[in-house]
Amino acid sequence: MPQGEPRALVLSGVEGMKIVTIVGARPQFIKAAAVTRAVQRYNQKHPYQQRLQEILVHTGQHYDYLMDKVFFEELNLPRPDYHLGVGSGSHGRQTGMMLERIEAVLQKEKPKVVMVYGDTNSTLAGALAAVKLNIPVAHVEAGLRSYNQAMPEEINRLLTDHLSTFLFCPTHQATRNLLREGIKDGKGKIVKKVGDVMYDSILYYSKIAERKSTILKDLGFDTRHETRVTSYYLTTLHRAENTDDPWRLKSILKALNEIGRNTPVVLPLHPRTKKMIETHHLFSEFKNIKFIKPVSYLNMLKLEKNAKAILTDSGGVQKEAYWLKVPCFTLRDETEWVETVKSRWNVLVGTGVERIIKEVSHTERRRRYLKGKGIFGDGKASDRITQELLKHFYKLCQKTPGF
Ligand code: UD1
Ligand code: UDP
Repeated sequence: MPQGEPRALVLSGVEGMKIVTIVGARPQFIKAAAVTRAVQRYNQKHPYQQRLQEILVHTGQHYDYLMDKVFFEELNLPRPDYHLGVGSGSHGRQTGMMLERIEAVLQKEKPKVVMVYGDTNSTLAGALAAVKLNIPVAHVEAGLRSYNQAMPEEINRLLTDHLSTFLFCPTHQATRNLLREGIKDGKGKIVKKVGDVMYDSILYYSKIAERKSTILKDLGFDTRHETRVTSYYLTTLHRAENTDDPWRLKSILKALNEIGRNTPVVLPLHPRTKKMIETHHLFSEFKNIKFIKPVSYLNMLKLEKNAKAILTDSGGVQKEAYWLKVPCFTLRDETEWVETVKSRWNVLVGTGVERIIKEVSHTERRRRYLKGKGIFGDGKASDRITQELLKHFYKLCQKTPGF
C-alpha cells in the first residue's frame, strides 16, 4: 500500500466515490468552492480509479446574477451538473420543492454521500432527501447554535446535524454544542473539528481581491495614499428577523443614517432587504446611507478589509471581520460565532438606535482587541474534510443505499 494512502481507497478497487454536493445560497457557493478545490487537488495527485467524483447540485434558491452566477465565475466553481430552478417561496413550499427535486437527482446518481453546507433551506432539503434514501449526509459547518429557534436557520442546522453521519465542525464550541445534544464521535457518527472552510477561502482569495478588485475606486474612495482606507463603515443586513419586522428594520436604518452623517455608510443590499425597504417606502428617508447592489466576493473582501468597522447581521461577515482584523458590530441579540465576541472583536449591539450609535462611536477602542489565534483552524479545513471522507470510503461503498 502506498505510504500515507487511506487504506479504504486501496481496498475499494475501481469503483469511484461519488459525492453529491448541494448548494443554493450565496454563502454556500463560497464554502463549497473551498472544498471543491481540495477535492480537485486530491484528484490531480491520484489515478482515475482513486478519484472522488463530485456532482454539483444547485437548488436555485438564489438566482439573481449578483447573488449567484458572479460567485461561480469569480470562484471558478464548476457549472452545476443539475440546476433545480426552485427559486423563492415560503419555507414549506421552497423546502418541499427542493426535497422532491433533490430526491430525483439522488435516485439517479446514487452517491455514496451527500454533502450539505451551513443552515439554509437548501441545506435541510439536501439532508432530508438523502437520509430518506439511506444515503449518509456530511454536514459542513456542523454544531453551530444560536439557541433561538425563531430563526429559520436554527431549525435547519439543528435538524441537519441530527440527520448527519459526518459532522464537520468549524470550532471546538461547535463540537461541544453537539455533545450537549448527545451527538459525539463514534457509534456511527463521525464528528470532527476540522476548522472553518470560509477561513480557507479568505486566505486564498484575499490576496487575489487585493490585486483585482476596483470597488474602492468605483465607489469614489481615495485609495492613493493609504494602505487601509478607513473612511467608511460597511454594513450588511438580511436576517429575516431584522428585515421582516418594520420596526427593527427602521430602527437599524435610522442608526446607520445617523452614523452616515459624519462617515459614509456603505450598504450592499441583499434582495430581501431591498424588497422590504421598497415595501415600506424607506429609501427616501435614509439619504445618508450609500445603498449599492450586492457585490461579488472579491469586492466584498476588499470592502471589508478597508472599512473603519463592519456592522452586520450576517454569519459569514462576522467571521470575515475577525479574520481581517476589522472591528465588528453585530446587529443581533445573539450569535452562533461566540468566539468572535469572547475575543472582544465583535460586539452584539442589537437593533436599538442609541445602542448602535454609542457602540460604533467607540470603534477605535475596539481595534486594540485581538485574541484567540487558531479558533477557526489553520486554513486547511477543506483538505481535512476530503481526507476524512476518503478514510471512510470503503465502509460507505459497502453500504447499499435503500433505492
Ligand atoms: C437565505 C438563508 C439565510 C442565509 C442567506 C444568505 C434560508 C431560510 N435563509 O436567506 O440563512 O443567510 O440566504 O444570503 O434559507 N431574492 C431575490 N433574488 C435572489 C434571492 C432572493 O430577489 O437571488 C429575494 C426574494 O424576494 C426572496 C427573498 O429574497 O423571497 C429571500 O430569499 P431566500 O432565499 O428565501 O432567503 P434569504 O433571505 O436569501
Ligand atoms: N458577501 C458578498 N457580497 C455581498 C454580501 C456578502 O460576497 O454583497 C459574502 C460575504 O463576504 C460572505 C458571505 O457572502 O462571504 C456571507 O453571506 P450572507 O451574509 O449572505 O449569508 P450568511 O453568512 O449570513 O449565511
